Amino acid sequence: MAKLAPSMLSADFSRLADQVEAVDQAGADYLHVDVMDGHFVPNISFGADVMKSLCGKIRMPFDVHLMIEDPDKYAASFVTDQTAFITVHLEACRHIDRTLHYIHDLGVGAGVSINPGTPVQALSEVLDIADLVLVMSVNPGFGGQKFIPSSLRKIRELERLRKENGYTYQIEIDGGVTTANAAKVKAAGTDILVAGSAVFKAEDLASRTKEFLALIR
Ligand code: DX5
Ligand code: ZN
Repeated sequence: MAKLAPSMLSADFSRLADQVEAVDQAGADYLHVDVMDGHFVPNISFGADVMKSLCGKIRMPFDVHLMIEDPDKYAASFVTDQTAFITVHLEACRHIDRTLHYIHDLGVGAGVSINPGTPVQALSEVLDIADLVLVMSVNPGFGGQKFIPSSLRKIRELERLRKENGYTYQIEIDGGVTTANAAKVKAAGTDILVAGSAVFKAEDLASRTKEFLALIR
């Protein structure tokens, strides 16, 4: 059984609470929170206060994805009672081992993400301390891009490494996930599927969420 994490990046921000409540009530597992700084990625999204405004209003825990430089400086501001994971990019960290330990010490799950151009191998020294590994299946920065098929190879490799070494991380995929490829993405070994536009650009958010969940549970 895999989990669904709708990304609020693709929500209509003028109706954010309503839309997030709709996917929450339809049974989505996490709220994926895409934080962009205009430096690590060529786009700016929102900060911790926007996420915190939803605290207590929904049941879903927050799955925070920091696409920012110097995440050590900002990670603590995303810790709430509802924060499940804080994920940083390997490419943005000078001392990834230190950063993952630091996030652990904040009392939330520590995640590490790799861009499409970064091999799984680059994570080899921190797989034993990660609670979550996020494979980007598009180049980060924008919702609504096309899924990069070679990401599935990375998912399979992460699953093999987890099995062989007894690692405990969750495997998450992010970018271009739709109802058309969700079953295949899950079959490759994904535990958590992020979906932005495929959920929030739907006419009926609740029924699209349920459609997704039926495909991956
Ligand atoms: C991309 C973000 C994704 C994005 C996914 O940089 O990390 O989480 O919201 O959007 P879709 O599902 O539309 O590709
Ligand atoms: Zn994301």
